[in-house]
Amino acid sequence: MRVIILDSAQEIGTYGANVILDGALKGTIRTLGVATGSSPLAIYRALEERWIPALAQLKAFALDEYVGLPANNPQSYRSVIQREVTDSLRLDPANVHVPDGCAADLTAESDRFETAMAAAGGVDLQLLGIGRNGHIGFNEPGSSLSSRTRPKTLMAATRRDNARFFTDLDTVPRHCLTQGLGTILDAAEVLLVAQGAAKADAVAAALEGPVSSMCPASVLQLHRRATVVLDGDAARHLALREYYVDTEKNRIEGVGE
Ligand code: F6R
Repeated sequence: MRVIILDSAQEIGTYGANVILDGALKGTIRTLGVATGSSPLAIYRALEERWIPALAQLKAFALDEYVGLPANNPQSYRSVIQREVTDSLRLDPANVHVPDGCAADLTAESDRFETAMAAAGGVDLQLLGIGRNGHIGFNEPGSSLSSRTRPKTLMAATRRDNARFFTDLDTVPRHCLTQGLGTILDAAEVLLVAQGAAKADAVAAALEGPVSSMCPASVLQLHRRATVVLDGDAARHLALREYYVDTEKNRIEGVGE
């Protein structure tokens, strides 16, 4: 895993945008896996500011969606992705895929989403945030490390954390559809970003703890092209922090970690 520690959310945004702009120009990134929540917003903003026509060619697949929120609800991830990604990066809406959390058969909808991802040739770069409980996507602790897209029940802690986007806790959905951990591992490359001290324990467990379903993000230790970009607060509990900084300072260009 490559671990990069930067000074601010803005620098994280610039880093992520550079990776995507470079990949879109070279044609190595044609399909992007897109996260919602606060963590990737600085990347989307930086991409909007430095928009190039190659971005409009990208396909996108969402990480997850709430169950039961109509698509036109402003907090549905379909709406969030339309605002933050489709509109601002000028993607063709026909190329942006979000699982339908109102489908009558949620398992069939999850399978359909997986089939659409495979038909697109898979995800070239998956963007991820991390929950305070170590979730990626909405794979809560206890998720199978080889899971595929499926319905899940949100933990009370996740619903509390996300209540800031809703009028009150009761209106936060209890269920979601989420790409599985196995689905995420299939992306050619993953880029996880985290900011703030509230994420420090989850980040340390994910990067330096055992690979365990108790910290779903720890499954990224099994990915061959995973990069984690943190601010100083999110990195504060990393035992190997100095080593990561030193590695980046003395990086051999073109050599992965
Ligand atoms: C979002 C997602 C979640 C968030 C995580 C962190 O699509 O799947 O895993 O990335 O809950 O959320 P923020 O970034 O709001 O702290």
